[in-house]
Amino acid sequence: MAALRNRDPILDVLRQLLPATGRVLELASGTGEHVMHFAQALPDLEWQPSDPSPEARQSIAAWRGAQGMHNVGAALDLDAAEGPWPAGPFAGVVCINMIHISPWQATIGLMRGASGILSPGAVLYLYGPYRRADRRLEPGNAAFDEDLRARNPAWGLRELDTVIACAADHGLVFERVIDMPANNLSVIFRKPA
Ligand SMILES: C[S@@+](CC[C@H](N)C(=O)[O-])C[C@H]1O[C@@H](n2cnc3c(N)ncnc32)[C@H](O)[C@@H]1O
Repeated sequence: MAALRNRDPILDVLRQLLPATGRVLELASGTGEHVMHFAQALPDLEWQPSDPSPEARQSIAAWRGAQGMHNVGAALDLDAAEGPWPAGPFAGVVCINMIHISPWQATIGLMRGASGILSPGAVLYLYGPYRRADRRLEPGNAAFDEDLRARNPAWGLRELDTVIACAADHGLVFERVIDMPANNLSVIFRKPA
């Protein structure tokens, strides 16, 4: 299961980026396994999961019930493209493996929405596979991209530079990428202080 494999490498990065306290919004929480893991490891942060899929929100509710986590909120019904976004300020926004499995409008909405609710100086953290101008797609990511596009022509791996430009259009400053296992990237943006 991908969430089980990548949750610790992602957590290692989030530990460096997030403040000790505050609220963190997760977009596209999926089953909720990530948010539960992060909330356990970083217990002084208040975690707010979200997903537009009712099945995902059901799974998150089941994990919350089973683990009795005091610092995980009930999942919000939040479509990045459409909102409604919760009121800020948030100490961080996290979005793992969404922007290639949603129409481009979701990425635009993510940048606009995150920029609107992040505290000054706070981080938008993205994780997933990307196309990069200076290199060929790795064979595994090329096959994944082809499969995504066959499932939905509006999906597919995004150009990192295009995502960075979209963030800039909404006032988020690109900070850096970190290479992650299995040819994924952590992509870090910051709201100006
Ligand atoms: C591949 S899953 C990733 C789930 C989880 N983040 C993980 O890495 O295990 C993609 C998730 O994106 C969500 N999603 C798709 N379109 C979305 C949108 N427009 N706004 C927010 N979430 C969306 C789906 O409901 C799904 O839960």
